[in-house]
Amino acid sequence: MLHRHLLRQAPRALQNSSLASARLASNPLRQCQPAVSAFSTSPRRLEDQPHKGEVGDHVGSFSRTDNQIQVEYPAEEKMPRSKPVQGRGGFHFKRTLASFSLEGNVGLVTGGARGLGLVMSQALVVSGADVAIVDLNKEEAERQADLLVKSFKDENPGAEQVPKVTAHYADVADPESVNQAIAEVIRDHGKIDNLVTSAGFTENFDAIAYPYDRVKKLWGVNVDGTYLFAIGVAKHLMERKVPGSMVMIGSMSGSIVNVPQPQAPYNAAKAAVRHLCASLAVEWAHANIRVNTISPGYMLTALTKKILDDNPELAQKWTSLIPQGKMGRPEDLMGAVTFLLSDASAYMTGADLRVDGGYTLT
Ligand SMILES: NC(=O)c1ccc[n+]([C@@H]2O[C@H](COP(=O)([O-])OP(=O)(O)OC[C@H]3O[C@@H](n4cnc5c(N)ncnc54)[C@H](O)[C@@H]3O)[C@@H](O)[C@H]2O)c1
Repeated sequence: MLHRHLLRQAPRALQNSSLASARLASNPLRQCQPAVSAFSTSPRRLEDQPHKGEVGDHVGSFSRTDNQIQVEYPAEEKMPRSKPVQGRGGFHFKRTLASFSLEGNVGLVTGGARGLGLVMSQALVVSGADVAIVDLNKEEAERQADLLVKSFKDENPGAEQVPKVTAHYADVADPESVNQAIAEVIRDHGKIDNLVTSAGFTENFDAIAYPYDRVKKLWGVNVDGTYLFAIGVAKHLMERKVPGSMVMIGSMSGSIVNVPQPQAPYNAAKAAVRHLCASLAVEWAHANIRVNTISPGYMLTALTKKILDDNPELAQKWTSLIPQGKMGRPEDLMGAVTFLLSDASAYMTGADLRVDGGYTLT
């Protein structure tokens, strides 16, 4: 449906872009000129008549959602698998700050069986932590846990200490399931020091047409899932009377409105995650528990790659809006998550680290 719709949109977009180039060619300085009328001293009523340039197919065309776009989150069996990244995890002799190390820590990553969660799990392993991958798809989590250990061994032949990586089931939206998973991780690893909440998903529906049960599910996974894991791990840290650091995966969609695909409930969910983080950061500062968010822009995971391979027009639209001109690679989050979990960010809490190629700046 998305594909057909975008094909219909393509001639309009082309027409709009040639209009824009023609305007620029006729006056390349146009964008640099100050808006003189804004400083005019003569009294001026709000015009009823549109100004030239305010009429035509192009108006709002780069900044509006298109309510006909619909993308449902695919069923599990249709999900493409992710792979651990290669060439990031070997011993090296480059000088770097010791405070970035996570050695001796145990990190729990929700949604770690795939996509961004998997790559961030790998970042934790490479940085010295043991990791518990928690996911709805336990089978895939187990497979990836084995692959992470294998890739660590391949890249560090003869390593004396091999990280422990375990896999656990949880539906993050279900409090009982969350508590069971946390108890299981503490049983297997003895403790939890770090939390990364990456379980989450997006879909595209016009707000009015969005089936409400799906909206509730989306908020349940993205918001409740983040909240339930955060409070479960904070309780454990407070009982142990030790410091801890958490990273919640938000999205640039928590600060801006994506176009052209409509996704109001997702955007609201990610804004909720960002402010939940800020609120918990204040509430738990006394206990030395830090909470920060990472807000990724468009990231090229196995799933987004599949969607964009099917819809190249959407890829063009997205990249045209990113100052760096390309989508992020999941491994672009490896440094960010390690920084926020480690002592390198000891004086940061309640912050939002945007990793978006500059998208939210323009
Ligand atoms: N990919 C992007 O471009 C992008 C951009 C900004 C933010 N994000 C956010 O990053 C996070 C990860 O996204 P991704 O692209 O890696 O997605 P993904 O679909 O590739 O991976 C999500 C993982 O979460 C798991 N999961 C889903 N529902 C769950 C539930 N109820 N309980 C437990 N596990 C569950 C899935 O099984 C999967 O392993 C999400 O919160 C997403 O909103 C992604």
